[in-house]
Amino acid sequence: MEPFEPFRKDLLSGKTTIITGGGTGLGRSMALRMAALGAKVGIVGRRPAPLEETVAAMRKTGGQGAFAPADIREPEAVARAVDALESELGPANQLINNAAGNFLAASEDLSPNAFNSVVQIVLYGSFHCTRELGRRLIERQQTGEILSIVTSYAQTGSAFVLPSAVAKAGVLAMTRSLAVEWAAYGIRLNAVAPGPFPTEGAFSRLMPGSEMEKQARRRIPSRRFGEHWELTNLVAYLMSDASPYQTGDLVTIDGAEALFSGQQFAGFAHLDRAAAKELMASLKPKR
Ligand code: HXC
Repeated sequence: MEPFEPFRKDLLSGKTTIITGGGTGLGRSMALRMAALGAKVGIVGRRPAPLEETVAAMRKTGGQGAFAPADIREPEAVARAVDALESELGPANQLINNAAGNFLAASEDLSPNAFNSVVQIVLYGSFHCTRELGRRLIERQQTGEILSIVTSYAQTGSAFVLPSAVAKAGVLAMTRSLAVEWAAYGIRLNAVAPGPFPTEGAFSRLMPGSEMEKQARRRIPSRRFGEHWELTNLVAYLMSDASPYQTGDLVTIDGAEALFSGQQFAGFAHLDRAAAKELMASLKPKR
């Protein structure tokens, strides 16, 4: 599908946005899109090479970007990274908690360290970054926006990804708590729950083989995965001044995947419609 452009080119001018995990996957796509809409974008991640490449890509299209390698599990490293980004780009006023860790495992086989490594990245990392930017905004009497990328199972839990489910539920609770607590400072917090949007990082860990991919597609009423531009349009809107009253919200963007999974008769949607109608008619009592 061709990307659809609904925005002014300067939609995000005046925004200086830190994106964790901004060198790869959805983080990279959000970084490029936001830079193209006029935000100054600072990206953080563990590996310098993809960060450097993403900043070069932002600059190539006239965007302003900078990077700072850091492991967000370390609060001091987060503070140093934000210092470095602010010295290049000026004071930050936005954050996207995007960095995540996840893998498939039976929960009884998880080592304490395996549980810890995912929860440290997703929950503690998001807290460290949120706290760091929040303190700076409050101190400077600046307003701002904080967005966290979660998943639909943040609300329901999910088998075989327990550490991620627990951590994402925590990030959602943090978003909802702080939306109320920090509204007085003019800080908006929202969460977005994407369904499957193909990325190397998530698909290599969570989608083992084409059979799983086929099954995943069958859980989506339109039978297609999301395209990155569909997500980045939503994110750009939520991070812009077009949505000042939207805070404390969880926006799901999954082609109704989560609803499909919870609806008892959803399977009929995948039958040939004429055949489904015929079947339903055959069940109607004859008079
Ligand atoms: C069981 C595992 C494991 C696996 C790692 N561990 N992978 N246990 N099954 N597949 C265990 C290790 O044995 C170790 O425990 C502990 O976890 C830490 O592993 P390390 O490799 O040393 O940790 P680290 O290098 O910090 O890597 C963190 C990571 C890794 C989370 C394990 O996968 C990672 O860096 N991921 C980042 C990228 C990522 O996951 N992206 C996908 C996000 S997708 P022991 O006891 O042996 O020391 C996402 C979307 C969700 O979140 C929604 C989807 C629809």
